[in-house]
Amino acid sequence: MSSFLFQSSIGRKFMMSLSGLFLMMFLLVHLGCNLTLLIPDGGEWFNAVCHFMATNLAIRIVEPILALGFVLHIIMALVLSYQNRRARGNNSYASGNSTEGVSWFSKNMLLLGVALVAFLALHISHFYAKMKGFVPSDLLTEKEIMIAGVPTMVENAYALVHATFKDLFSVICTVIGSLALAAHLSHGFWSSFQTLGFSNQIWRVRLSVFGSIFAWFVGIAFSAIALLQYFFY
Ligand code: HEM
Repeated sequence: MSSFLFQSSIGRKFMMSLSGLFLMMFLLVHLGCNLTLLIPDGGEWFNAVCHFMATNLAIRIVEPILALGFVLHIIMALVLSYQNRRARGNNSYASGNSTEGVSWFSKNMLLLGVALVAFLALHISHFYAKMKGFVPSDLLTEKEIMIAGVPTMVENAYALVHATFKDLFSVICTVIGSLALAAHLSHGFWSSFQTLGFSNQIWRVRLSVFGSIFAWFVGIAFSAIALLQYFFY
């Protein structure tokens, strides 16, 4: 079984699809949490959600699995792209511009993936590294808020996010990263399902339409959160 998954092309594609779908589920949860930034309550809801995420046992267990999902997805993408390039020689699918009927996004998945990894490195240094205490931050002070009527001391994660999105460079990087994410997902969504067997013409059309809606909704929503924080909060 493990030799099928790691040593055959179809096994690697299968793992890329599964890890990709898992990462999409993370994105939905992450977006849901971050949408609380739009509530004009000085960050009370956002701080409560961050407190829940930081203290909930199930979330703590899923965190290393998420990191593993990212690593697996990236390694499989690099191995498959290398194999494709070697097999196709100069007619490389990943960089060719003459392939008719194939979208720009599907031809440039690797490029979009590299842009995403660059964005994620910056993003994690801005938020995750500070909130987990790897990088010190003066903004992360303790604050008392009411959670279900109970006064609770929480970390002021809102102060960190708010200050980060008052910096134009961070906002521009988040918008570019989120749009690269949308482009990457708009192909990745239906491609994952296709690898898992939903490959007839009807499913292809359905998944491609639904995937595009999902991808651009997620990308535009993340961009909007950063832009609205910059301009209005
Ligand atoms: C407005 C947009 C965004 C905001 C406000 C935001 C906020 C945050 C915050 C506060 C954390 C740290 C959470 C913690 O350590 O408890 C975080 C972590 C993370 N973000 Fe984002 N994020 C945004 C967009 C994105 C996008 C577009 C992606 C994916 C491409 C992404 C992927 C991640 C990952 C992988 C982590 C580390 C895992 C985690 O802590 O859950 N984020 N983000």
